[in-house]
Order: sequence, then C-alpha cells, then structure tokens
Amino acid sequence: MIKIDKLIKEYDDKRVVDIDKLQIPDKMIFGIIGGNGSGKSTLLKMIAQLEEKTLGHIETGVDLDQMVYLFQKPHLFNTSVRKNIGSPLKFRKWDKDQIDKRVDELLKLFDIEHLSHMNALKLSGGEAQKVNLARALSFGPKWIFLDEPTANIDPKSTRQIEEILKSLDINMILVTHNLNQATRMCKQVAVMFEGKIVEISEPEKALEHESLQYV
Ligand SMILES: Nc1ncnc2c1ncn2[C@@H]1O[C@H](COP(=O)(O)OP(=O)(O)O)[C@@H](O)[C@H]1O
Ligand SMILES: [Mg+2]
Repeated sequence: MIKIDKLIKEYDDKRVVDIDKLQIPDKMIFGIIGGNGSGKSTLLKMIAQLEEKTLGHIETGVDLDQMVYLFQKPHLFNTSVRKNIGSPLKFRKWDKDQIDKRVDELLKLFDIEHLSHMNALKLSGGEAQKVNLARALSFGPKWIFLDEPTANIDPKSTRQIEEILKSLDINMILVTHNLNQATRMCKQVAVMFEGKIVEISEPEKALEHESLQYV
C-alpha cells in the first residue's frame, strides 16, 4: 500500500497538489482521473520520486528500483526492439541467456515478435508504446505508474494494451483522462480537482462527480 499524508506541491506561489490523506491499495489497478491541470501527473511523479514534494510524506514500502514510471510519450533508444526491451536487464547485469529468455517472453506477451529486430524509432505509436511497456516490465517491478499510457495511440492498440495490463499481477496506478478507460481498467479511482482528491470510489460512481462534467 502507498500512504500519502499532508502532501503539498507548489510551483512558485501556485499550489498544484494538496492532499490531506490518500491510501493506494496494492494488488489492483488504481486509477487517478481528473481534468487537464488537476495535478494528476505531478502527484504520480512525486510518488515515483521523479518530482520533489514541497511538503508532506509519501510511503511506498518498496525501494526506488522496484518501481517504474511510464511516460506518456515513449522515449525509446535508437536500436532494435529487442535491445530496447532488454536494456534494463543489461543495466542490472543479467546473463545474456536470461535476458534473451525474458525478452522473448515479453515479445510474445505483447504479440510483437515480428518486430524484434526492427529499429525502435521506426515503430508506429501503438507499437512503440508496447515496446515501452515491455521494457518497463522487463525486470519485474513491484509497482508500475502509468501516465496516460494510451493517450496518443489507436483504439486497437489501446484495447490490446489494456488487456495485457489487466492480465498482469503487479501493483499499478493508472492516470487517465479517458473516463471509459478508467471504467474498463480500474477497481477504484481517485478523482482530482484543482490539486485535491475530491472522491475515491469505484469508477462508475466516481464518474458521476460534478468536477468531471466537462472532462
Ligand atoms: N514544472 C512546472 N512548473 C510550473 N507549473 C507546473 C509544472 N508542472 C506542472 N505545472 C502546473 O501544475 C498544474 C498541474 O499539472 P499536471 O500535474 O501536469 O496536471 P494533469 O496531469 O492533471 O494535467 C498545472 O496547472 C500545471 O500547469
Ligand atoms: Mg498529466
């Protein structure tokens, strides 16, 4: 479980996150929804320790190297899909055989075996995000933090990625402004509005929150 207490983030004089208490259960896909600029990405980055907090406390219960943050836009390396997916394992000094085996598993999971030797920078948006996710999952993180993972990709790849994510046994926070996606994916969601958490419930109920009227 991730425990957040009296968390504040300010840019200059502007308070963009202001959360008194939030507990994010593990073993489920927990959603964070809300309109543009409501503070979703800032909150997620602070949880992943990619952004400094101004004040407050975040307890994740795991080491930094057991968490992975997936940016909205894949930043893949200028090399093959295989090498991209295996790069965190190489960094962690896995044996070559182990890396090959794990990369093969992930290529299969994402149904992208045919792309194995292609340069990752030549992929379509949907393919690139699959490689990005496969790379993020390669080393078996305990938590994965997803910031609008399907915002820029086609509906078919989006559904494929959703199905794969749902099949995984990993603790997950999914930030999305796609309310339908939240309903399809999440067991519980927090609604953010102007930096605050204004509701936590199952998606169907949360979606009725007045702050989401124009999202
Ligand atoms: N690096 C930054 N400097 C100044 N303001 C920022 C910065 N990052 C985000 N903000 C502001 O913080 C608010 C929340 O942003 P963000 O967390 O990206 O919202 P969301 O992900 O919900 O769209 C917005 O008003 C945004 O303009
Ligand atoms: Mg954002």
